[in-house]
This record gives sequence, C-alpha cells and structure tokens, in this order.
Amino acid sequence: MDNTEKIKFVIDDKVCYAEPGQTILEAAKSNGVYIPSLCYIEGVKPPGSCRICNVRVNNRNLIACTTPVAEGMIIDNDIPELNELRKAIVEMLFVSGNHFCPGCEKSGNCELQALAYRFQMMVPRFPYEFPEKGVNATSKYIFHDRNRCIMCKRCIGKVMKDEKHVFAYNSRGGEHLHVVMDEELASQLTEEEATEAMDICPVGAILKKERGYYSPIGHRKYDKESIGSDIEKK
Ligand code: FES
Repeated sequence: MDNTEKIKFVIDDKVCYAEPGQTILEAAKSNGVYIPSLCYIEGVKPPGSCRICNVRVNNRNLIACTTPVAEGMIIDNDIPELNELRKAIVEMLFVSGNHFCPGCEKSGNCELQALAYRFQMMVPRFPYEFPEKGVNATSKYIFHDRNRCIMCKRCIGKVMKDEKHVFAYNSRGGEHLHVVMDEELASQLTEEEATEAMDICPVGAILKKERGYYSPIGHRKYDKESIGSDIEKK
C-alpha cells in the first residue's frame, strides 16, 4: 500500500501515514513518534486504564491507545499541558503504591520509573499512601507484590497458562479492587514463563524469584536510554 491509499494525519506538526484500523498510538509509533503509554501492550486489546497516552485532537483529549486514527486528524502529543498531565498521573501512581526504586529488582527496567525520569519528576505533589495490600509468594517462580501494582491489567490480558488467565481482578470492587494471582496456575509456570510475566509487568509487582541483580544497576534498559527514545530514533 503506497501513501496515497493510507490515512494521512499530522502529529506534533509531522505529516504521517497510517494503515486503516491502526490506533493513534500504533500509527504514531510506526511513524517514529513516541506517545507515552503504560497499560498498553502489543497483542492485547488496550484496557485504556492508565490515561498516560492522552493526546489532544481538535481541542479534545482522547486516549491514543483506543482511538482509531482518522484521515486529516491534527494531533498534539508532545506539548507542555499534556506532559504535565502525564507527570501528574505518574506521581499519583507513585504515591498510591510502594515504589521504593533503589531496592526493587525492576529498577532500570521499570516503565513507571522511566516515565518519571522522562517527565523529570522530583518529589510527588501528593501524599504517600503506603498501602498494605499483601504479597503472594506461593508460586515456585513468581513473587507477586500487590503493593506495587498499578492496575494496568497487562498481566491479566497476557500472562496465560494452558489458555487460562493466571492473573485476574478479585471479585470485590471499588477501593478494594486488586489483582490476584491464581496460585495453582502460577505454580505451573516454567522459569521462562515466569520471566516473561515479569517483563510483561511494567513495574515491580511481578518478580521472577531468584532473579536478583542479574544485570548491574546502571546497565539496564532505561539506565542507558530514556523511555521512548527507541521509537523516536526510527
Ligand atoms: Fe493508553 Fe494506558 S496506554 S490508557
């Protein structure tokens, strides 16, 4: 398909082309434009839960990971108002969980931490909640710390064992809503599957047991490059 058959749109003053059916997030990525995201993960219907990917189209804020791109759209993405909004969301996520980066095995590979660096978060403007939601260490290879969970649902959509979901929301709603691990299914995960589950989690809520400092601090993914810079280099 050449560009004349594609959807033409503009994002941050850059003229771009998209395949029909692509969301704004996907289309931006394939044109080398990074839209910050957290709950989105390739291969799963986006839950649209984190709101980090907010963009502005015709003066309306829209969620880039769920909104299909359309012909003639003029999209603002990397503008101070949106980056300030994203920074506030990151701060809220930090205070609502126990994100003690220096002691977390996910440090340097954590997308929440990387976004905080990207938006130059110093001290969150909101009070810390220090939740006590409990941990689950019953699985052979998985350590599940609910106090670090940001409720992005990536694990719910993507961590499977024999086509069954290993993680799910508990049945209680409201402020008691949290992600629970099916202990029986989690205990059947292989070491590789447990490592994949750890990688699917954008923070340190799902950790692979016996994986401590496998890569020195300072040599991890976001220690070297800011999150999104791989897309911007395309
Ligand atoms: Fe779009 Fe989370 S990445 S709402």
